[in-house]
Amino acid sequence: MVTVEEIRRSQRAEGPATIMAIGTANPSNCVDQSTYADYYFRITNSEHKTELKEKFKRMCEKSNIKKRYMHLTEEILKENPNMCSYMAPSLDARQDIVVVEVPKLGKEAAQKAIKEWGQPKSKITHLVFCTTSGVDMPGADYQLTKLLGLRPSVKRFMMYQQGCFAGGTVLRMAKDLAENNAGARVLVVCSEITAVTFRGPSDSHLDSLVGQALFGDGAAAVIVGSDPVVGVERPLFQLVTAAQTFLRHSHGAIDGHLREVGLTFHLLKNVPGLISENIENRLKEAFDPLGISDWNSVFWIAHPGGPAILDQVEEKLGLKPEKLRSTRHVLSEYGNMSSACVLFILDEMRKSSANEGLSSTGEGLDWGVLFGFGPGLTVETVVLHSVPIN
Ligand SMILES: CC(C)(COP(=O)(O)OP(=O)(O)OC[C@H]1O[C@@H](n2cnc3c(N)ncnc32)[C@H](O)[C@@H]1OP(=O)(O)O)[C@@H](O)C(=O)NCCC(=O)NCCS
Repeated sequence: MVTVEEIRRSQRAEGPATIMAIGTANPSNCVDQSTYADYYFRITNSEHKTELKEKFKRMCEKSNIKKRYMHLTEEILKENPNMCSYMAPSLDARQDIVVVEVPKLGKEAAQKAIKEWGQPKSKITHLVFCTTSGVDMPGADYQLTKLLGLRPSVKRFMMYQQGCFAGGTVLRMAKDLAENNAGARVLVVCSEITAVTFRGPSDSHLDSLVGQALFGDGAAAVIVGSDPVVGVERPLFQLVTAAQTFLRHSHGAIDGHLREVGLTFHLLKNVPGLISENIENRLKEAFDPLGISDWNSVFWIAHPGGPAILDQVEEKLGLKPEKLRSTRHVLSEYGNMSSACVLFILDEMRKSSANEGLSSTGEGLDWGVLFGFGPGLTVETVVLHSVPIN
């Protein structure tokens, strides 16, 4: 007679969840950060707000961003003037764009990940789709399943409106799914398009302006599974532990509201301070069980919400500048793409590690940490283990 324990054991995977492939995509429209203030004030008919424009220029200069990608072109914005004002009803126009474009951009990233994985897409058992760009029913997960031609029975999870921490959330979910379902292959897709947040400047809401200087569009996809098929599937990182918490005394530091005018968001100036003051405790919780307390001995993937967050974390922990190299590179090349950012950084890190001839996908190191930061303030902490590069 089979026991419940035996059934449970056969249902679960043996080994830890691993990331087996990564794909990324961006819209073709690229904006140059050095001239963005001129473009933004012109397209939003705000050139008369000269002081505000100077402030916005300073934000752009200090963003450490070189370029961003945006689905919204000058042509689209001219056709939708309400999206260019600060607070005009525009949700329908925004939804018309993101409901179509978010799954499409996600598809591009997913196809690259599936190609690298090298397995038939019929082997995908679960789909986790994440976006903060609009909502719909059935959701972007359903649209992507159809666009990719996945099996109709693929088990879908739709994560709407999580915000910037969610790159960590989706890895946490994928880990649970992969480890608790033998043979599971989880396609994870984060797709973000700023058509939901783009708006003109306001003298009274400067935090909104900060977002206009930082946010960009991008999608990233990973395939997660346990017990890789030897010689066929090639792990890139192992997902060792994953935790979520929100920080005490941080209520209202980052929040967003979906209204007639699109997604409005609020960003207090003390966000970098709150994150840097609390980060060591998150690290201790994650790494005490492993006996690791030297934060320079692990590789780093931190959501680049803005350069001030990275600067203050670096200073607080005494991190060597090279620790955040991949993170800063992604911020500089793409801006803050919300949930997709940390997956872009994973991609950048494994590629640069290979190009530089390092011994592991984690810059030659064994253990690493991935942080998601966002509304709440919520922090996701994922402990990673790299794999050797042959
Ligand atoms: C915005 C940012 C790039 C500016 O760089 P900085 O090195 O801090 O430079 P400054 O302090 O000179 O800020 C530039 C201007 O932005 C303003 N500013 C910065 N953060 C602001 C905020 N949250 N709300 C309103 N204004 C803000 C400053 O007051 C300053 O205005 P001024 O030039 O008229 O004095 C930086 O503060 C940053 O990275 N912030 C974190 C953004 C964030 O919280 N992201 C989380 C999203 S997940």
